[in-house]
Amino acid sequence: MADALPQSPGPIGVFDSGYGGLTILHGIRQLLPQYDYIYLGDNARAPYGSRSFDVVYQFTRQAVLKLFSMGCQLVILGCNTASAKALRTIQQTDLPELDSRRRVLGVIRPTAEIIGKLTDSRHVGILATEGTVKSESYNMEINKLWPDIEVTGVACPLWVPIIENNEANGPGADYFVKKRIDHILSLDPRIDTIILGCTHYPILIPKIKQYVPEGIRIISQGKYVAESLKDYLNRHADMDERCTKGGSARYFTTENEEKFKENARIFLPEGIEVSHLSLE
Ligand code: DGL
Repeated sequence: MADALPQSPGPIGVFDSGYGGLTILHGIRQLLPQYDYIYLGDNARAPYGSRSFDVVYQFTRQAVLKLFSMGCQLVILGCNTASAKALRTIQQTDLPELDSRRRVLGVIRPTAEIIGKLTDSRHVGILATEGTVKSESYNMEINKLWPDIEVTGVACPLWVPIIENNEANGPGADYFVKKRIDHILSLDPRIDTIILGCTHYPILIPKIKQYVPEGIRIISQGKYVAESLKDYLNRHADMDERCTKGGSARYFTTENEEKFKENARIFLPEGIEVSHLSLE
């Protein structure tokens, strides 16, 4: 299989089920503008949040293979659900078979790494998709590094559809945002830091801030994933050499290009060009 994949240096791939990974790509490009990037959103099959382990794994595997075939040597799963449900199997089972020199990294570990430095009360909340919360990936990753931290997760199943349908600023969003914030704080009133463990959620920050009491920190992941990637590339000169540096970004969606282009405005300050591709 490795022979069939291009071996020359290529762009860094960023994958998400839909638009959420754009918040990750934005954070990465701010810190590492020199690299080339390919963004792939599987909008046609989003949301992933309530899908089974096996389906998320199969979809994510298809996306990673596509990005590899487009020349990416390094792929970031800019999606917590895919990081929670597919990353480990891809790293442990698929990569050794496909091409052991390529790498796939996720967004949960970089977030877990910094959280111990941000919480004083040692009580942390995770708002994420049902799949991410049920996987308990955050609890496991955080407790591996910071065993003294108590982690409480709450799923927000309607937040992604609200965002994907461009209703994040609408009055309907208030009800669902308040409901989940109240719920997580009722489960653990000592929470002083809430991780937005879904890459879509930063779009709801203005609403989230309205309902979170003062003094509680809201963490979105883009900046931390970017810092972690920078550190990774500094430590892995071989991979750094396999990533091209032309400062470009190309965008692909499995849905309609025009729709993606329009909705991407919610997530990115700049306008973009988008192409369609199929994963099936
Ligand atoms: N943005 C994704 C995440 O970080 C998932 C959204 C979805 O497809 O449900 O979990």
